[in-house]
Amino acid sequence: MRRPLLVANWKMHKTVPEATGFVKALRPLLDGVAGVDLLVAPAFTELASLKPVLWEGLGLAAQNLHWEPEGAFTGEVSARMLVDAGCSHVIVGHSERRHLFGETDAMVRQKVAAAVDNGLTPILCVGETLAERERGETLDVLERQLLEAVKDLPEAQAARLVVAYEPVWAIGTGVTATPEQAAQAHACIRKWVAGKMGVEIARATRILYGGSVRPDNAGELMALEDVDGLLVGGASLKPDTFIPIIEFDS
Ligand code: PGA
Repeated sequence: MRRPLLVANWKMHKTVPEATGFVKALRPLLDGVAGVDLLVAPAFTELASLKPVLWEGLGLAAQNLHWEPEGAFTGEVSARMLVDAGCSHVIVGHSERRHLFGETDAMVRQKVAAAVDNGLTPILCVGETLAERERGETLDVLERQLLEAVKDLPEAQAARLVVAYEPVWAIGTGVTATPEQAAQAHACIRKWVAGKMGVEIARATRILYGGSVRPDNAGELMALEDVDGLLVGGASLKPDTFIPIIEFDS
C-alpha cells in the first residue's frame, strides 16, 4: 500500500519569518490528519530556519541542487548542504528549471545521482508541453525523461525515486489535467518503472500529480488508482487552500 505524499512547493515565495510563521500556524490545523506524508519545499534561504520548527508529520524538501559535492560553482547548493540543512527530499527537473533555466536531461541525471548518493530522495518531475501533447507525444516525452534521468542509476538506488507527473501546460495556469489525462500519464509512468525496475518496485513507487492542484480537484485526482500524492504550488502558499488539499478524502 502506497502512503500518500503531499508536497508544498513554495517556489520563490516567503521570507524566513513568513515561512516559519506558516509552519507554526499549520501544526495545530493538522491535528487529527493522519495517514499522509507531508513535505514543505521552501527556497534555500528558509531551509535551515525551518528545521527546528518541523515535527514528525512534516518533512523538508529542497527545490533544486547541484550535482557536485563542493567547489567553485557560484550560486549553487550541493546535496550534502541540503542534508545538513535538514532535507530528506529534493525536487529535481521541475519544468520551471528545465524551461526557464535551461536544465537538460543530462543535468537532471547528474542531480538525481547526487541526491541518492547523499541519501536524499529525489522527487523527479516529468511532463510534456502543450505542443508535445497536441502532437500526440506525451507518453514518449515521459518515457524519454524517465529514461534519461535514471539510466545510469543502479537499481537499488532507482527504487528510492518519487516521480511527479507535471504537465507543463497545467503548472500555474489554473488548467488542471482531466482525471483521464492524469490516469493515462500515471499508468504509463508506472508501467515504465515496472519494465525498467520490476513490478515490485513499480508497485511501491509513489507517483505524484502536480499542476494547478486546488481544494476542489485534489480529491478527484487522489481517487485515481495510480495517483499517490500531489505536488502543490500556488495553493500551498496559504493554509486555507493547503489544508483542504491535505484533507482530500474527508
Ligand atoms: P501550481 O504549481 O500548483 O502552482 O500549478 C505546481 C508545481 O509547479 O509544482
